[in-house]
Amino acid sequence: MKSVHTRDGVQELVAEARKGGKTIGFVPTMGALHEGHLSLVRIARREAGCVVVSIFVNPTQFAPHEDFSAYPRTEEKDLSLLEPEGADIVFLPTAAELYPDGFGAALAPGPAAQGLETDFRPHFFGGVVNVVSRLFHAVKPDIAVFGEKDFQQLQVIREMVEKLHQPIKIIGGPIIRDEYGLALSSRNAYLNPEELLIARTLNRVLFDAADAMRKGGKAEDVCREARFRLLKNGFDNADYVEVRWDRILAAVWVGRTRLIDNVAIG
Ligand code: PAF
Repeated sequence: MKSVHTRDGVQELVAEARKGGKTIGFVPTMGALHEGHLSLVRIARREAGCVVVSIFVNPTQFAPHEDFSAYPRTEEKDLSLLEPEGADIVFLPTAAELYPDGFGAALAPGPAAQGLETDFRPHFFGGVVNVVSRLFHAVKPDIAVFGEKDFQQLQVIREMVEKLHQPIKIIGGPIIRDEYGLALSSRNAYLNPEELLIARTLNRVLFDAADAMRKGGKAEDVCREARFRLLKNGFDNADYVEVRWDRILAAVWVGRTRLIDNVAIG
């Protein structure tokens, strides 16, 4: 496994792999890796001959009041987790390397970005499409794998690739949950033991809501009931509980931590 910090460096290694007849699989991450990320690396491993993982905490997808500085940075541990998974190249760019022209946005996200996250984090998908397009430009992958936990993000990326006619196959990796059903997230590290107990009830509420939808419930009623249960369980707020793309999706607050999750209906 080779670590590289520059765009030229990653391009050279990728070109070498291509020369050897390998296809390129890519998993973009912000580090603080957990089993959820590793499951995406395994998908890339299965689908491509050479696996590139990027680790970059992207400043442009955080608003000034959000957790950019607090976001966990665990580079050494991340590298030690990636090696046994068979990652070939780890790309760890600096902000100056990825944004030599400054943080101005060159791309706007498409219609999938409307509502849900954007209603509460209006800057978010602008930052995501700009960093992912820069990463794609550097790595030039054949396939790229994104987690379904960030389901709206996955739709926004699919739309971006289509709009730009980028020849990249986007694969969604299933959500990985802990033994209580809590979707794995780097932000779970912020939770104290009491908050963790509350957080673990989110998936139950969403699975029940998906059941209720399957039984013919009206989205509006099911989401209202789910929101009521979440607040009763101790969540401080729910930014949204909504049905879209045949999924029930939610963003909730427990203390100062914002969690997102979603469950398929169909
Ligand atoms: O999902 C993430 O970790 C990030 O949004 C991504 C796709 C790596 C872009 O910074």
